[in-house]
Amino acid sequence: MLADKDRIFKNLYGLHDWGLEGARARGAWDGTKAILEKGRDWIINEMKASGLRGRGGAGFPTGLKWSFMPKQSDGRPHYLVVNADESEPGTCKDREILRHDPHLLIEGCLIASFAMGAHAAYIYIRGEFIREREHLQAAVDQAYAANLIGKNNIHGFDFDLYVHHGAGAYICGEETALLESLEGKKGMPRLKPPFPANVGLYGCPTTVNNVESIAVAPDILRRGAAWFSAIGRSNNTGTKLFCISGHVERPCNVEEAMGITFRELIETHAGGVRGGWDNLLAIIPGGSSVPLLPASQCENLIMDFDALKDLKSGLGTAAVIVMDKSTDVVRAIARIAYFYKHESCGQCTPCREGTGWMWRVLTRMAEGRAAKREIGLLLEVAGQVEGHTICALGDAAAWPIQGLIRHFRHEIERRIDEYAARPPAEPAALAAE
Ligand SMILES: Cc1cc2nc3c(=O)[nH]c(=O)nc-3n(C[C@H](O)[C@H](O)[C@H](O)COP(=O)(O)O)c2cc1C
Ligand code: SF4
Repeated sequence: MLADKDRIFKNLYGLHDWGLEGARARGAWDGTKAILEKGRDWIINEMKASGLRGRGGAGFPTGLKWSFMPKQSDGRPHYLVVNADESEPGTCKDREILRHDPHLLIEGCLIASFAMGAHAAYIYIRGEFIREREHLQAAVDQAYAANLIGKNNIHGFDFDLYVHHGAGAYICGEETALLESLEGKKGMPRLKPPFPANVGLYGCPTTVNNVESIAVAPDILRRGAAWFSAIGRSNNTGTKLFCISGHVERPCNVEEAMGITFRELIETHAGGVRGGWDNLLAIIPGGSSVPLLPASQCENLIMDFDALKDLKSGLGTAAVIVMDKSTDVVRAIARIAYFYKHESCGQCTPCREGTGWMWRVLTRMAEGRAAKREIGLLLEVAGQVEGHTICALGDAAAWPIQGLIRHFRHEIERRIDEYAARPPAEPAALAAE
């Protein structure tokens, strides 16, 4: 269990003052100038040494990402863009930082922007986050008033920070769709390359980072990379916000050490599985887009990027969704498939057509109204969507279905057998497929 002294988010539950005074009392804005005085290269190297991997889902090393920004400007401004869209189902951590510890994020924006030569940063906040935006904007105003940011600020690096409200679309969390939306266009992902570090916001070098990735940076630099990298396992370091939901006694958010076991995580913080450990059916370990894992793989499950990848799943956003034996697992994944169908921006044929097709087939399968050969067909279509689209929404739609078939094929087959044995008196209505 993570020691209290190692916590970064000391006001995760909003029990204390979220404003500047409270944040300062918890250590924010302490020694920020000294960090900047160590220079861009030192900051980036320290971030690399900390082993921090992006907290937005893909786990890309943060220091390395920062190092992709041009060292010298070719005349174009550089930008940092913070992804506060947080729409991945099950994920509810960034909103707590925005509401309860916004100064950690603002300080992180200043430091990260300095390290990348960006004199302006944008925080793109999800449309539905009203209270979060109010707190964040108030905290930004406080930072300006205290001359912590802005022109001629006390840190000696001119820096402006803008909060931009999205309109509430999952796809706007994809980094290039987010940039399009920020520019006032429809949130549709861009083809890559070029990557944002070369051609990003308004055609200028840009880095997009998740809220948590940026908010942990000041503490890493204050306490040192060695402190952060000593927590967790090699290549999977540091503390992490886990969002625990579903069939546990006490759903919660908690900051824990990377590499904690699933069992310790939910038994220490969430009161365990509803009805006891033996009532566990499956979990989705990292937000709706990662493949589920059956209870048999959860006993000694290590919660980090590499351990979950080895099991063909992922840590994603660390949104842990627990399903007990009362869950209709096929229907649950069919519902997730509906979400991806609904959120597809429609640019790529495999995603636009495939997400709807997969949802419709899965909906039938949940009732048993299917043929067994369709299971293989569904797997094949999921494979044709995965990796064949402009952005990773296509993968996110395919993975949960692949996970379901990998671990619960027997359940789908059982329903098909049951349906075949007792067909309904009335013929079932068939949707066009
Ligand atoms: C469909 C889709 C939705 C995404 N939504 C989010 C999101 O809400 N928040 C986020 O930080 N990253 C989201 N991402 C990941 C971003 O594209 C990007 O990788 C991330 O913001 C990078 O930050 P990091 O390197 O700090 O993790 C999404 C990706 C996809 C494909
Ligand atoms: S994969 Fe889907 S959401 Fe992403 S660009 Fe293609 S159609 Fe749009």
